[in-house]
Amino acid sequence: MVLRWLRTTLICDTQPWKDLKAHVEDIKKTHLRDLMNDKERCESMMVEFDGMFLDYSRQCATLDTMAKLYKLAEAASLKQQINRMYSGEHINSTENRSVLHVALRAPRDAVINSDGKNVVPDVWKVLDKIRDFSEKVRSGSWVGATGKPLKDVIAIGIGGSFLGPLFVHTALQTDPEAVEFAKGRQLRFLANVDPIDVARSIAGLNPETTLVVVVSKTFTTAETMLNARTIREWISSALGPSAVAKHMVAVSTNLTLVEKFGIDPNNAFAFWDWVGGRYSVCSAVGVLPLSLQYGFSIVEKFLKGASSIDDHFRSAPFEKNIPVLLGLLSVWNVSFLGYPARAILPYSQALEKFAPHIQQVSMESNGKGVSIDGVPLPYEAGEIDFGEPGTNGQHSFYQLIHQGRVIPCDFIGIVKSQQPVYLKGEVVSNHDELMSNFFAQPDALAYGKTAEQLLKENVSQHLIPHKTFSGNRPSLSLLLPSLGAYNIGQLLASYEHRVAVEGFVWGINSFDQWGVELGKSLATQVRKQLNASRTKSEPVEGFNFSTSKLLTRYLQASSDIPADPPTLLPRI
Ligand code: F6P
Repeated sequence: MVLRWLRTTLICDTQPWKDLKAHVEDIKKTHLRDLMNDKERCESMMVEFDGMFLDYSRQCATLDTMAKLYKLAEAASLKQQINRMYSGEHINSTENRSVLHVALRAPRDAVINSDGKNVVPDVWKVLDKIRDFSEKVRSGSWVGATGKPLKDVIAIGIGGSFLGPLFVHTALQTDPEAVEFAKGRQLRFLANVDPIDVARSIAGLNPETTLVVVVSKTFTTAETMLNARTIREWISSALGPSAVAKHMVAVSTNLTLVEKFGIDPNNAFAFWDWVGGRYSVCSAVGVLPLSLQYGFSIVEKFLKGASSIDDHFRSAPFEKNIPVLLGLLSVWNVSFLGYPARAILPYSQALEKFAPHIQQVSMESNGKGVSIDGVPLPYEAGEIDFGEPGTNGQHSFYQLIHQGRVIPCDFIGIVKSQQPVYLKGEVVSNHDELMSNFFAQPDALAYGKTAEQLLKENVSQHLIPHKTFSGNRPSLSLLLPSLGAYNIGQLLASYEHRVAVEGFVWGINSFDQWGVELGKSLATQVRKQLNASRTKSEPVEGFNFSTSKLLTRYLQASSDIPADPPTLLPRI
């Protein structure tokens, strides 16, 4: 079923878009200092669902703005677009695919169709296979070639086959419940084709006790395949080629290539082309490595948290719908107020890999220049995402956020720390100290500090401009009750759907990624040249002046590398 749901008008041609454009003038006249005095406004800008609490009262927006944004959502047929996604229509039209990551975490008895087939039984078939396999490995009934239990795992993959699992792993690493299940085990990731990453990933590991999971949707990604061949060599040079069967498994949609690589198809865990790479953490891509490390029961909680948000996203009215609100506010900030960036600031070290993951989810999804029908956009889509955990970010880039450019911020806080620490005699617990910053920063951004206030504090005249804070800088605060596997799933799904909302409103295809192709194909040309120059001393040819110069310099400076070097693995 191919969706050809043509949008003849761009969203910017609709009346709600024009109304919002005109409304910007009204908002520019307001200051958050005053907006925050309106209790009723603030109260109606707070939403709660399943323990998650969103406060968006510090957005440069009024209730009128919100009403206008809901009208914009209507003009973009947001509800219908969400329904199209859930009903398996091929909304990824340039790849002619459904977009069904919600099916990856649906309950066993759910019915979600793609191309007339309920995909949920297939999803659970793989989940059950992962549960069995990970239990075998964890219990020691699946052993390595020399009979030793496999206690360490290296997951090889890049982009969506890496960032999501890394985020979840990092978040679970300090969760007391997950920690119990992970005792004596290690999970590492190998993503970059840089041999330094190979060295880091195997440092201190013994091939005899290591299981390798090669994760690649396509099983053609250059970085992943070279890393997989490198680690295969690491295993077979230590244990013999037959050890590969016991030490390497795969996650992919391309089971033919998995087999060609030399991995037993019985040890391959499938997923499907209706799962986008950056939306694949809930497939075997994340579930297998995470189950090996923490056991399936923990990962199942993560899936349940995501599923709870999936239901909420599909059914809640827009005014109460956390992902919809997040998405509409992003559109407001980017397309109307002209703030193209967003800082993701979790006040939890466990979420240190959240911003890098959302960078891919958001920027690979919405970094587009044409509408879904190929019309060049007369407005910018996508946003520039970056972030660091608070309070580390405060001592790094917050200066710019407070007094330089206006960057809308997402403050993410946790009520109960995974690892509480109290010191007798201290004013507050360590987590309260962290959270003091979580509560203070949004107000500092919103209210700022005026010259009058500084004068009252007897600040010297010449320092007043430097110490003034303009305020009126938007942020939102998201408070989670705790940070267990379930909450991590909720957070993930909220952001995935937020990105979809933005894309639906901008009228783009958030589910393809053609922009990554050009660089890849040019690298192929360079690879050929490097091989020809190193093995046949062929001169650099076919590149522009600048690239030829750089390549020649690189080759000359490394001419001591033999034409046909023997295998060399990192020694670390
Ligand atoms: O960077 C482009 C990309 O295609 C991402 O979308 C994807 O997550 C990543 O490469 C890895 O792809 P694969 O899982 O096929 O190896």
